[in-house]
Amino acid sequence: MAYNLLKGKRGIITGALDSNSIAWKVAEKAHEEGASFVLTNAPIAMRMGEINALAEKTSSKIVPADATSVDELTNLFTQSQEILGGKIDFVLHSIGMSVNIRKKIAYPELNYDYYAKGVDVSAMSLHKMLSVAYKMDALNDHASVVALTYAAAQRTFPFYTDMADIKALLESIARSFGYHYGLRNKVRVNTVSQSPTKTTAGTGIKGFGDFFDYADAIAPLGNASAEDCANYCVTLFSDLTKMVTMQNLFHDGGYSTTGVSDLIMQKAGIKEA
Ligand SMILES: NC(=O)c1ccc[n+]([C@@H]2O[C@H](COP(=O)([O-])OP(=O)(O)OC[C@H]3O[C@@H](n4cnc5c(N)ncnc54)[C@H](O)[C@@H]3O)[C@@H](O)[C@H]2O)c1
Repeated sequence: MAYNLLKGKRGIITGALDSNSIAWKVAEKAHEEGASFVLTNAPIAMRMGEINALAEKTSSKIVPADATSVDELTNLFTQSQEILGGKIDFVLHSIGMSVNIRKKIAYPELNYDYYAKGVDVSAMSLHKMLSVAYKMDALNDHASVVALTYAAAQRTFPFYTDMADIKALLESIARSFGYHYGLRNKVRVNTVSQSPTKTTAGTGIKGFGDFFDYADAIAPLGNASAEDCANYCVTLFSDLTKMVTMQNLFHDGGYSTTGVSDLIMQKAGIKEA
């Protein structure tokens, strides 16, 4: 059921790689809720071509941009305002990549070139995006920026290696820029800390499948799906949450505040079923 929560709003949605991507679901929901938006991804990701189907389905245009390039981000914000006919009301940062994770390098042995690349792509890109928008004055007053993150920023999950540190930086950038952009234009900046989700980025992590089941058995509501995440993002883009900013918001079925569950104790043989 749609509520027209984003009627008349203009957005930029990054990170829709294929139909499993969280950003893909956000685009579908934002379209259902009446938004118009530009889709963007790294030029290399465009080669797979799947994003064209999403653009058609949501009547959107695509503007390629590598999120590490200030020039390409400047072009993204310039073109998006032209295409959509005005300043931007919401931005989804849904970008994550770690070469160390891809190459299954353990935390004590991280490669620093890969580490730096991960920081640039997955965290500093949020600063670059916000800085470009800030200097161009490309966001409307009360606009909402949401970046996706993971609970390894607060607690240790060994398999998440350098992305744990990178997500901590991402969350800090959201707070710091949230202050400056909030003061000037009442722009909100938040991070959503999502459950493990079966996407290209998610399943690229060693042991992801086992951990997905573990998290599902801990959270009283179970893991939140990509569709659930998209619904939550839509509320954050809407005017209903206009005083929420500089927050890291857990969207994880209660996982992050559950110490242990009966189910996990049963599975461990500590408690009878
Ligand atoms: N899947 C999970 O379990 C999970 C959990 C919590 C948070 N997240 C976060 O959600 C976000 C989206 O990931 P996803 O799970 O939907 O996976 P995904 O692989 O579908 O999306 C990641 C996207 O980042 C894009 N990207 C990579 N490098 C880029 C660059 N240089 N410029 C622009 N875009 C670039 C990719 O092309 C891809 O579209 C990420 O920030 C991820 O860390 C995922």
